[in-house]
Amino acid sequence: MSVGIDIGSKIIKIVELEKEAKGFRLLASGAVGYQGVIPSQAKDDKELAALSDVIRKLHKEVHIRSKEVAIALPESLVFTRTIKFPSLTDQEVVSAVKWEAEQYIPIPLSEAIVEHQIIERSEGAGGGVTVLLVASPRTLVEKYIKLIGGAGLTTVGVETEVLALCRSLAPATGTVLLLDFGASSTDIAIVKDGMVRFSRSIPTAGEAFTRALSQSLGIEYQQAEAYKKTYGLSADLEGKVKASLAPVFNLVAEEIKKAVHFYQTEEKGEAPVSIIVSGGTSSMPEAISTLTDLLGIEVVVGNPFAKVSVDTQASKSLANYTCLYSVAVGLALRGD
Ligand SMILES: Nc1ncnc2c1ncn2[C@@H]1O[C@H](COP(=O)(O)OP(=O)(O)OP(=O)(O)O)[C@@H](O)[C@H]1O
Ligand SMILES: [Mg+2]
Repeated sequence: MSVGIDIGSKIIKIVELEKEAKGFRLLASGAVGYQGVIPSQAKDDKELAALSDVIRKLHKEVHIRSKEVAIALPESLVFTRTIKFPSLTDQEVVSAVKWEAEQYIPIPLSEAIVEHQIIERSEGAGGGVTVLLVASPRTLVEKYIKLIGGAGLTTVGVETEVLALCRSLAPATGTVLLLDFGASSTDIAIVKDGMVRFSRSIPTAGEAFTRALSQSLGIEYQQAEAYKKTYGLSADLEGKVKASLAPVFNLVAEEIKKAVHFYQTEEKGEAPVSIIVSGGTSSMPEAISTLTDLLGIEVVVGNPFAKVSVDTQASKSLANYTCLYSVAVGLALRGD
């Protein structure tokens, strides 16, 4: 049994999978919205404890069996980059990362947890090894572990949201762009042959849409949230909703273009053949078609359960919500 918990800024999702002879089977899943402080901004133990309670209840209500869970850190708070080394052995890479990480990451090594993954080796002249470096602030990791501990659970795995997303959504071969269109942030990752090559988080997502709508139409936040979900970028309501949301949406599209440009020029990578989207905001009416028009590349909604067997009943209840579970499923697929 393996459990993934995705603590989003608006919705907490939980998934439990069971490892079978061939692949994984879904045992339980659930999600709950919450208001108030997000873990990284909790000022004291009391604020953290309130959130622990939400997690404890969710774990109980959806009948998750295991108390050992894997969690993801928000992409916006971790630092990820790729580094190219000459042809080193795995052991030499460990030392090189240890000695050289400092110059690549913006936080002092003493305050960071640094991990690496070898993502490519090429032989011959000019060959080398490409390594993905991930640095997380130690205090952030400790806060999350405390949060989970407060819910009566044990953290057995920690990674970044994008690494989890990659496990549930990325194809084994080819270059694609993954987009997690959440509430407070939109995470962009370029993945080649199933390995993360580049990632970036921008603070423009669901909440920015709702705020823009609320301001431009002079309506309450809750009303704006409802309009956003009903009309989104479709041309209804005399196009007023669309007109308010479009500038924010264009910002996201521009950031995607920039990410692809950066990857092609700085990393000499190939252009992604498609964009695979997930996250609550990907359900916004006409979001997918608008993104396709703006970027001129195929955009599809990812199915995080593609590699998981799901019975008919669970399938029906998940129906419109699958896009919420990409990070949680990716965490559970670690199989901790
Ligand atoms: N049908 C819909 N149309 C538009 N937006 C939607 C729809 N359904 C959900 N959303 C938006 O999705 C967001 C929640 O999605 P998600 O659960 O992916 O975010 P999160 O993981 O909590 O946030 P983050 O990852 O940014 O911390 C909210 O902003 C919500 O308004
Ligand atoms: Mg999220």
